[in-house]
Amino acid sequence: MTALRLLLLALGAGLLAVPASAADTSAAAQRARFEAEAGRPGQVQAGQQFFTQRHGAQWSCASCHGQPPTQQGRHARTDKRLAPLAPAFNPESFTQSSKVDKWFKRNCNDVVSRECSAGEKADVLAYLLSLSR
Ligand code: HEC
Repeated sequence: MTALRLLLLALGAGLLAVPASAADTSAAAQRARFEAEAGRPGQVQAGQQFFTQRHGAQWSCASCHGQPPTQQGRHARTDKRLAPLAPAFNPESFTQSSKVDKWFKRNCNDVVSRECSAGEKADVLAYLLSLSR
């Protein structure tokens, strides 16, 4: 076996060990995914309303993520600092699909007492992507 082949094998093994936190998507791709699921485009206005309203529970999305969610948020229960949710203000926002799914599920349950629909997620993404510097 040549040294080059050994090197390539080592490289290959290294590449397989991509950490679980690696970016695998983008906010635009997540928006497209939820729009495809919903069968309609996301709406900025509807997303903003959804984000800022309380839905009969204690919190809105903005309670933790801030309004507008372009700055560091503050967890309403634990006071923990949260990185800005709007992608233009946080390059890591919406770059990991497992994280997107995990937090949509958890936060929607906290705020609307159920999972958000694909349309609601598409609206929220449209709103967040409309926020620019
Ligand atoms: C009780 C506090 C709280 C509320 C209310 C809340 N969130 Fe979150 N959210 C968090 C925390 C904590 C994280 C994880 C932040 C981190 O680890 O970077 C998060 C992360 C997220 C993420 C993942 C972002 C990414 O980078 O992939 C999405 C999407 C999200 N929230 C959407 C919402 C939406 C939509 C609502 C309203 C329905 C909402 N959140 C309400 C606390 C909250």
